[in-house]
Amino acid sequence: MEDWRPVPMTREVDYAPKPIDPDFMNKPDEYPETGTHYDHKILGEGKARTDANGSPYPTKLGIHGTHVAVDWEACIADGVCMDVCPVDVFEWELNPGKKGTGNDRVLDHGAAEWQKYRTDKSDPIRESDCIDCMACETACPTKAIKISP
Ligand code: F3S
Ligand code: F3S
Ligand code: ZN
Repeated sequence: MEDWRPVPMTREVDYAPKPIDPDFMNKPDEYPETGTHYDHKILGEGKARTDANGSPYPTKLGIHGTHVAVDWEACIADGVCMDVCPVDVFEWELNPGKKGTGNDRVLDHGAAEWQKYRTDKSDPIRESDCIDCMACETACPTKAIKISP
């Protein structure tokens, strides 16, 4: 069968991204509320977690959003979530006002932002506009997104 998807734009990272824990909202010890960002919550920022190989993630980023939740440890800047969302929920964190595949800010290895983020991240800045079409959750290559209607 032919692959209908365009070439993925994920950025290379030095860890193995793991899908978002679909049950994260029921695990306040692992994912405590650690802040807010625009109109959405951040859960688990600053907490050490392990990647798909059981190694510690080099970053300590949390989950942004609850209705539209993006695990920033798992997001490696593919951008397809933004391409498919019919109501423009997402924007790049490090390239404000920009969205979509190839429009992420690519970080220089060793720079302070690379230390903190590794790649740009999809931020659900208009979470409350989500109409639960589920396209983003289905399309993300690392399964970083969980929709909880
Ligand atoms: Fe990130 Fe997945 Fe979107 S890798 S940019 S959440 S498609
Ligand atoms: Fe958009 Fe995903 Fe909601 S594609 S409408 S944020 S389910
Ligand atoms: Zn955010």
